[in-house]
Amino acid sequence: MTNPVRPDFVPVEDYISKDFLALENAKVWPKAWLMACREEELSGAGAYDVFNVVRDSILLVRQPNDSIKAFHNVCQHRGRRLKEDACGHIGKSIYCRFHGWSWNVDGSIQRVVRRDQWEGCPAFDDESLRLPELRVDTWAGWVFVTMNPDAPPLAEYLGEVPERLACYALEDTRMVWHVEMKTPANWKLVLNAFNEAYHVEATHPQTNSSTILPSRAAGIHAMFGPTMFDPVELPNRPAAAAQMRRDLRDIVLETTEEMYRDLQAMYLEPSLAAARRLHAETETGADPQALGARLMAIHREELEKTGARWPEGLTPEAMQRGGFGWHIFPNFIILPCTDGSLCYRTRPHPDNPDECLWDIWCFGRFAPGAEPAPKRTQVEDYRDFFEVNRFLKDDLINLPQVQQGMYSRGFRGLRTNPDQEACVSNLHRVIHEMIFASD
Ligand code: FES
Ligand SMILES: [Fe+2]
Repeated sequence: MTNPVRPDFVPVEDYISKDFLALENAKVWPKAWLMACREEELSGAGAYDVFNVVRDSILLVRQPNDSIKAFHNVCQHRGRRLKEDACGHIGKSIYCRFHGWSWNVDGSIQRVVRRDQWEGCPAFDDESLRLPELRVDTWAGWVFVTMNPDAPPLAEYLGEVPERLACYALEDTRMVWHVEMKTPANWKLVLNAFNEAYHVEATHPQTNSSTILPSRAAGIHAMFGPTMFDPVELPNRPAAAAQMRRDLRDIVLETTEEMYRDLQAMYLEPSLAAARRLHAETETGADPQALGARLMAIHREELEKTGARWPEGLTPEAMQRGGFGWHIFPNFIILPCTDGSLCYRTRPHPDNPDECLWDIWCFGRFAPGAEPAPKRTQVEDYRDFFEVNRFLKDDLINLPQVQQGMYSRGFRGLRTNPDQEACVSNLHRVIHEMIFASD
């Protein structure tokens, strides 16, 4: 048993120990519900998507009746992985290129080459030759799978998340871009770099942000950002005071233009158009609350001009209650916004605690039929991403430095901020419970 996790402490072994990684691989990934892909990636019967996690590969296939089935992506003959591409169309069958066995789209066996040669062999019937199936369910346009037959239903697993985020109608959003990047840091380190806003002031000084976003656990999940039920006093910090002396319209315009250009997510065209109009159409010195309400009204107009739908329940109160960011256990983060969302997912390297795969998605709102074809990029060397996304570059340069720093004999563990980094410590609390519960 390693050191216990506390709201103010996380053991360093969680990030660097190969034994800990092996325990996670055995006890966390096979038990949880995992976000595998988007519903829009499975458009039309026979469309498939491959979701790889640790050493498991899962094949998700759209069925003729529009439901989705998930199978272990492995040939039942001698174990060849069936589909190698990330996505595509099944065609006439799920075909194995090694000896030519094939399966129907519903996982039933279609053909065993020279089947008569197994005659009289035990358990060689259609039922035992089916592709092993997994539980699959959807929420807000995301497709989740679990390898755990005893997992609770997805709706129960997600707890309060769907209700809190309902105002954003995330099921209406569509993928704009997706990056999958090999990253030289532990999967939890990368995830946790986006699981709090405590780092923003130092890592992203250009945002001039001095807002404190408190965090709290919500069962196995966690959120950060003020909510109607957890009102917070924003402390009167010098940076905040200095900001307030500036014209708020300038701050809104500067931040929006910068985020539109550098982050290329959350602040999409409607945000940019709204910030520009706000600047042009309002007077200096307007009351901040009135300015906020005006910005939202203009934003709605700009979004609707494109033919996209503004979610009916999307009010300032609902947004505040929804929070700024949600961590869905174990490895999925949603940062919802008026224009859509920015989402992150990380997956471990099977044996190397210093490496992971990091997925980043931008989602937007579009008129039906005007959705862009998603731009997908795979990045082998994280340094190649520096020029692609100048905002995330700031986060990315920290990550290998933190991972290497953790090996220092002078580092005993993470001193997590109980107020602003509850999402971080809660992830470790839940993992420890899953791993060590029976010890
Ligand atoms: S391994 Fe697939 S047909 Fe032999
Ligand atoms: Fe960041």
